[in-house]
Amino acid sequence: MLPASSSLSSLSNSLTLLLLICTLLLTSPSNALKYPFHPRDILPVLPRQVSWPILNALNGAADLLPAFVGSASDQTGTVEWKGACFYQNQAWMEFHNKSGSEFGGGTLHIKVSDAHSWTCMDLYVFATPYRVTWDYYFLSREHTLEFNEWEGKLEYEYVKNKGVSIFLMQAGMLGTLEALWDVFPLFTNTGWGENSNIGFLKKHMGASFEQRPEPWFTNVTVEEIHSGDFLAVSKIRGRWGGFETLEKWVTGAYAGHTAVCLRDSEGKLWVGESGHENDEVKLTDLLTCCDSMELIVQRFLLIF
Ligand SMILES: *[C@@H]1O[C@H](CO)[C@@H](O)[C@H](O)[C@H]1NC(C)=O
Ligand SMILES: *[C@@H]1O[C@H](CO)[C@@H](O)[C@H](O)[C@H]1NC(C)=O
Repeated sequence: MLPASSSLSSLSNSLTLLLLICTLLLTSPSNALKYPFHPRDILPVLPRQVSWPILNALNGAADLLPAFVGSASDQTGTVEWKGACFYQNQAWMEFHNKSGSEFGGGTLHIKVSDAHSWTCMDLYVFATPYRVTWDYYFLSREHTLEFNEWEGKLEYEYVKNKGVSIFLMQAGMLGTLEALWDVFPLFTNTGWGENSNIGFLKKHMGASFEQRPEPWFTNVTVEEIHSGDFLAVSKIRGRWGGFETLEKWVTGAYAGHTAVCLRDSEGKLWVGESGHENDEVKLTDLLTCCDSMELIVQRFLLIF
């Protein structure tokens, strides 16, 4: 997802790079920039004895938390913020119809300037409720991010009114890479991934997962379920397991997915299940969907 592997492998010839940086240092005009490079930028090329103590001072997974810097829309006009590396940044949105589609698309213009060093890079995540994308900026100039076509009326209206949200990875490129090192195993669909997820939740949230004694079977009938009975499911393995772990960590939740059982005045069982917000779901859809709820409860109970 991130340009991690490619930029890391290009750093393999570290000696050449180190030489290049030294040359740059020696030949740079003294009045160009206050700090020609920042220690964190060149960490990967330093000898391990030097770079490890610096790496350990970074915050690990916490560096993966993006910071919201603003959103660019018709309403908000131009937004400005200070980046981790480029101190002066601006963004504004331009709507267009290059695709000739019903709602058209847009271009997000981002102007970055005033870098604190020559070697640094800012990493950004851009999001609407309908998509997430990322990009990084190395040069002081105007960059653009294309949205060829909005997903539909809802995304078009959202971006018109609320804009595209811009998040900065505060740790910069290196901090983010280092944090990913912590987080990558969470997404592997293996026993190692499972243990990493459990380890992560224990380390960062103090949450412990104890295995239940066998048999792993819950013998509960629909009649025994009361109003207010709460079901919680927590994934700790696979791609979604990794996402859930990070979600729990940033929100403080201990479960990924929850449901509450309710009985109406006639004693019929209903289940309210957590899920995605979706304005397009109509009441009639909801009512027809709920005929199968008893089945879902039974499936849930089998899982536990
Ligand atoms: C974009 O162009 C198409 C075709 O000309 C048109 O039908 C559509 O309404 C336009 N959309 C917008 C948002 O202007
Ligand atoms: C489940 O409970 C019922 C009655 O409570 C019992 O008859 C049945 O044998 C139980 N099943 C299992 C697998 O324990």
